[in-house]
Amino acid sequence: MAEHPTPEVIRLEALTKSFLMGEDEVQALRGLSFTLRRGEYLAIMGQSGSGKSTLLNILGCLDLPTSGVYAVEGTDVAQLSDEQLSALRREKFGFIFQSFNLISQLSVVENIEVPLFYLGWEGRRRSQRARELAESVGLGHRLGHRPFQLSGGQQQRVAIARALANEPHLIFADEPTGNLDSSTGKEIIGMLDSLSKAGRTLIMVTHERTVAEHAHRIIELADGLVVKDEPTT
Ligand SMILES: Nc1ncnc2c1ncn2[C@@H]1O[C@H](COP(=O)(O)OP(=O)(O)OP(=O)(O)O)[C@@H](O)[C@H]1O
Ligand SMILES: [Mg+2]
Repeated sequence: MAEHPTPEVIRLEALTKSFLMGEDEVQALRGLSFTLRRGEYLAIMGQSGSGKSTLLNILGCLDLPTSGVYAVEGTDVAQLSDEQLSALRREKFGFIFQSFNLISQLSVVENIEVPLFYLGWEGRRRSQRARELAESVGLGHRLGHRPFQLSGGQQQRVAIARALANEPHLIFADEPTGNLDSSTGKEIIGMLDSLSKAGRTLIMVTHERTVAEHAHRIIELADGLVVKDEPTT
């Protein structure tokens, strides 16, 4: 019987990104090629200025490459309109940020509801699902709290619940433990590990090797190039 390879979630081919600074061109990414398959857990590492944020912005469809190919589930993003790119982000991606990026005026449940609002879910169904998600990250007893009434770790758990609301095909985490003390950071990394074990596809940017070791694979960038792409042990 023919083998069915795990489906490819993303593919990069000779991808570059340059920025114009007056007369000068800054080459932030200088030709990246790799694929990521469903269920993989990838950590991206590299020194300051190596291109991590530039790459994550392109992978998250917040920015477009200058040349080369970036394809999500087989579709070259260069073929998509702005509206189609927003739809791709809304329907397929979940984002977790270093600074949580919660809306301070909204409660825990309301923050988790935001992506469902943009997906057009009706109010009752939205809040029901948001409550379940809050419970799944251990915040069932904090549903009405606002972000400033929560600890950093609790805020990041709200952000994780929000990132899961649309059942994303791909989760991006940008320095998810960067603003947390080490024991709270471990708790958040444990949650990402559980998501990976449950079959989710994850891409995390981190400058901490001990955090990166939780992923299945580490890609290291230097000066806009992949200098290492290795499985973790
Ligand atoms: N909008 C921009 N305009 C001009 N140059 C940029 C822009 N964004 C990034 N760069 C340049 O591209 C290179 C890569 O930057 P990037 O922010 O991707 O690095 P990074 O790996 O995320 O660094 P850090 O660890 O400090 O966050 C740097 O030389 C940076 O100065
Ligand atoms: Mg950065």
